[in-house]
Order: sequence, then structure tokens, then C-alpha cells
Amino acid sequence: MRAHLNHDSIPYEGFVDDCDSTCVVGWCWRTDRPSERVTVVVRRAGVEVARGVADRFRRDLLHAGKGDGSHAFHVELPAELLREHDRQRLSIGVEGTGFELAGSPVTVSRRIRELIVNPLVFQRALHAPPMHFGTLRVDISNTCNLDCVYCPTIALRTKERLALADFEHFLAHNVTGLDNLAIGCGQEPTVSQELCDFLEAAGRAPLPPRELFMLITNGTLLHKHDWKRIAATRLNALFLSLDSTDADVLASVRCGSKLERIQDNVRGLLAAAPAIRLNLNIVVTTASFPGIERVVEWGEALGAVSFTLREMYYPPETARGAELLEPLMLPPEHFAQLEERLTRRFGRERFCYADRLHLRQEYEDWAPRLA
Ligand SMILES: C[S@@+](CC[C@H](N)C(=O)[O-])C[C@H]1O[C@@H](n2cnc3c(N)ncnc32)[C@H](O)[C@@H]1O
Ligand code: SF4
Repeated sequence: MRAHLNHDSIPYEGFVDDCDSTCVVGWCWRTDRPSERVTVVVRRAGVEVARGVADRFRRDLLHAGKGDGSHAFHVELPAELLREHDRQRLSIGVEGTGFELAGSPVTVSRRIRELIVNPLVFQRALHAPPMHFGTLRVDISNTCNLDCVYCPTIALRTKERLALADFEHFLAHNVTGLDNLAIGCGQEPTVSQELCDFLEAAGRAPLPPRELFMLITNGTLLHKHDWKRIAATRLNALFLSLDSTDADVLASVRCGSKLERIQDNVRGLLAAAPAIRLNLNIVVTTASFPGIERVVEWGEALGAVSFTLREMYYPPETARGAELLEPLMLPPEHFAQLEERLTRRFGRERFCYADRLHLRQEYEDWAPRLA
């Protein structure tokens, strides 16, 4: 993480991490007043076009000693910015000062870091101008077969499915470049009987995903799909959500799950499709906390290349009541203790930790766009 102090020795420090045609993201704080939140201003040719407060929590900032870690920003850019020009140069500074963040100025082009689409909003995406996508996340169905107690998207389920022809049209006409593609995001892709058709369509698109081509799933319905057909697509990453290798614990939080079925499915698919790498998403609750090492061991035995630990956050839209969710929330510091515990045993590489404050903020960003 690079830092930058301004020449007038005002103790601001900040960095632009990334920008695309919709937003600028980074972090900024005043090192002599760590509890203050700084306002970041985005300018084009000296004229303000957007602003936002750097008050979001990021675990990496906390670890790097940037105060309480709540100094990240995500400033939305006006939609008309790229209407007339393919590129715009923007400077990013602190309100009321001459301080510019490290990494500024930036050049904004027709590129989106991450787009999340589902059947309800797909028409809007089809009518947008062509873009380069960092990561495109697509829900091909808008429902799920499980009822995980903590799932925020149960309340958002609908019967709509994405039309295969629309997906193909989008990939052929709306994409000028695609780094990563995820099938499945907020719901469950394997409930769609057309899953293999979608995977094949993405593989034969004029610009298929250059890096990760991911299937994000709870694993329970994989046996309903043709593994040989999946193996013949370009799919290279399976992201499986599995919180516990104790069947009772798993069934109590990820309601409707059958551990043996999931494990057989994953072993079977990986054997049929050796090019697919396994990645585990593990939600940490008081129920799963004691047995996390066993989930990691199971993943390691299957050659898993990444483990993402997600501290359960309290979903704002939940089908369940507080009496069920509160006891599942980790006490303060337990997630950090888990990180230490796992790091001692398995090392840092391959492990990623997302705590509940961060996940909740992330959810509040993407959920309204899917309605
Ligand atoms: C909404 S799910 C959708 C994809 C798929 N159905 C699945 O479960 O993998 C995306 C990820 O968010 C995780 N998740 C859901 N609710 C959560 C919560 N309240 N706190 C932390 N992670 C959560 C899930 O376990 C899963 O790994
Ligand atoms: S499997 Fe995924 S989408 Fe389905 S209820 Fe669980 S977390 Fe939500």
C-alpha cells in the first residue's frame, strides 16, 4: 500500500486504488486526526464532478495502521462523463485543500470494474454502450433451492430467468473486453436447467473471459447437470459455499443442504473436469467457527486454490428473525482470532478474510441495483 504526504505537510494520506466509468475508489485520512472522515473531491479540468466521504471500513487499512480502518471511499461518477469522449482525465483531492491523492490524476475510459446483473435488470444492461468489464457477475436465475438463515437475497427472489438469447446478444454486442465472468452471484445458478447452455455460450462468445470463468454455487444441485458438457466449456473455477463438514451444523445454517450430496458432487465434477480449480467460500458463524479447519482440510485434499472466510453479517433484508440470527453472530475479535489461528496453521497465501462491516457495506452497494 503506497502512501503520499502533501508538500504543505498537512498530514493527509491517500491513494486512488482504481477507477472506471462509474466510480473512483481508494482511501484517504488525516493522520493527525484519525477519527475524522475526509471528503474527497473529483475534478475534471479543475471543475468538481463528484464527491464523497472516505468513511468505509476496510480490513486491509486497519491492518496497515490507517486509524480505525474506516477511511475508504467509493465515489460514483456522473453517467454523462463519457458521453462525448472515450476518455477523461480526472484529479482526486481533499475538499478545501490543495492535497491530491497518490495515483491522481487518473484516466477514465469505457471500462467497468464490476457489473452485477440479474434477469430483472438485464434489459438495462443490453441497452448500455459497449464496455470493457473487469468482472461481470450474472445471475441466470433469480431464485435458490436453499434457505440459508443468513441469506440477504431470499427476500429478493423472483421467478424470472435470463433468456439465453439475451445473454448471447450481450456478450456479442456489449462487451469490448472481459477479464472475469461469474455465473451466479446473489442467487443460485444451478437451479437453471440451462446452466450448461449458458456456460457454453460464454465460452464461444467473440471475447470469452480472459482470466477467471467462475461458477458460484452451493453445490447441492450440481448432479442435475452434465459434467462432461461442463468439462468441455472454458469454465476454470468452481466457487463452492461450504461452512462446515459437520452435516448437522451445515443443515442448521444452510437450510436444505445435504453435506454428502455436496461433497459427492464436487468430487465428481472435479474428476470429470480437471481444468476446474476449486475455491471455497466459508461463512463464519458461532455454529461453524469451531470446525473451520476441517472445511479447509477438506478443500486442501481436493486441491482448493483459495479460501474466502466471510464473517456473517446481519442482513438488512432477512426472512429470519433476530432470535435466530443474533446467536450466530461472532463475538467481537473472534474473526480476527480465527484469522490468526488459520494463518498459523495454513499460512496467508490463498486465504482472504472479509469481515461483516465490509460485507454489509458491499451488500448495500449492489442490492439496490438488482431491484
Ligand atoms: C448470496 S450467495 C449466492 C451464491 C450461491 N447461492 C452460494 O451460496 O454460493 C453468495 C455468497 O454470500 C455468502 N453469504 C450469504 N449471506 C451471507 C451473510 N449474511 N454473511 C456473510 N456471507 C453471506 C454465501 O454463503 C455465498 O458464499
Ligand atoms: S445458497 Fe446462496 S443464494 Fe441460496 S440461500 Fe444460501 S446464500 Fe442464499
